[in-house]
Amino acid sequence: MDTKDLYNSQASAWTRNEPVLLSDYSARPFVINLCEPAAGKRILDIGCGEGYVGRKIAMAGAEHVHGIDISDKMIEAALANQVSSGIENLSYEVQDMRNAELSDIEPYDLVLGMFLFNYLSVEDTHLVMKKAFDVIKPGGHFIFSVPHPFLAFLKKEKYPFYFEATNGYFSGRNILFPGEIWRRDGVAVNVQCIHKTFEDYFKGLVDSGFTTMPEVYELRITEEQLKLDSAFFGPLMDYPLHVAFKVRKQDQ
Ligand SMILES: C[S@@+](CC[C@H](N)C(=O)[O-])C[C@H]1O[C@@H](n2cnc3c(N)ncnc32)[C@H](O)[C@@H]1O
Repeated sequence: MDTKDLYNSQASAWTRNEPVLLSDYSARPFVINLCEPAAGKRILDIGCGEGYVGRKIAMAGAEHVHGIDISDKMIEAALANQVSSGIENLSYEVQDMRNAELSDIEPYDLVLGMFLFNYLSVEDTHLVMKKAFDVIKPGGHFIFSVPHPFLAFLKKEKYPFYFEATNGYFSGRNILFPGEIWRRDGVAVNVQCIHKTFEDYFKGLVDSGFTTMPEVYELRITEEQLKLDSAFFGPLMDYPLHVAFKVRKQDQ
């Protein structure tokens, strides 16, 4: 399914203020923490969805968080939440990041792309990484998370998170792997991953102009999560679930 239709049809299942989805435990707290210190920062959240992550960072004291998403229903949900929560240092816009014009804007301290690149081809990922590089201030950061490139090949059972590999690790490059991720209340949400290798992510950073070494984290289920809900998190124990990258744009 087209990404915009996929998210327009599922916006209500994504709308939340507290952790619900598996990745609200296994990825988002870690990545939000990577964005610290957020206080006083101008942040661009690309593929922001209904704003769960941006809201948390805005509440942590960011000067401003601007979210961009291709799905008008996700942005509608983000705006509705902003009205009800009264958080002021947020703004949103519907745009396809592949065509987004960002060149005239004031540079950002941080660009965040949380589970955006799994919806983009290798070529579009590189294009959007370059757009991110161009709007980050010297000394600012680019942080993004993606499904772990090995997960689809290692984990065959579906519950509570999988991608279905339709080719091998290299022959599957740029092929869309459908998947699902569960919420703790039993609802499954459809997700997709246009498969990329580790090399694709590193090459994208280098070709975009980043010259510093990225921090790379392979995110997994923790013992605390297992204690909280072993039926939910147990089937994922010892699998590499997501990867988070944090790279600093060199000073000029
Ligand atoms: C898995 S959701 C993640 C949402 C949010 N970043 C989070 O972590 O909660 C992926 C989001 O990327 C958006 N997206 C996919 N392709 C996009 C594109 N080309 N431009 C802008 N947003 C896009 C989708 O509409 C969806 O809201």
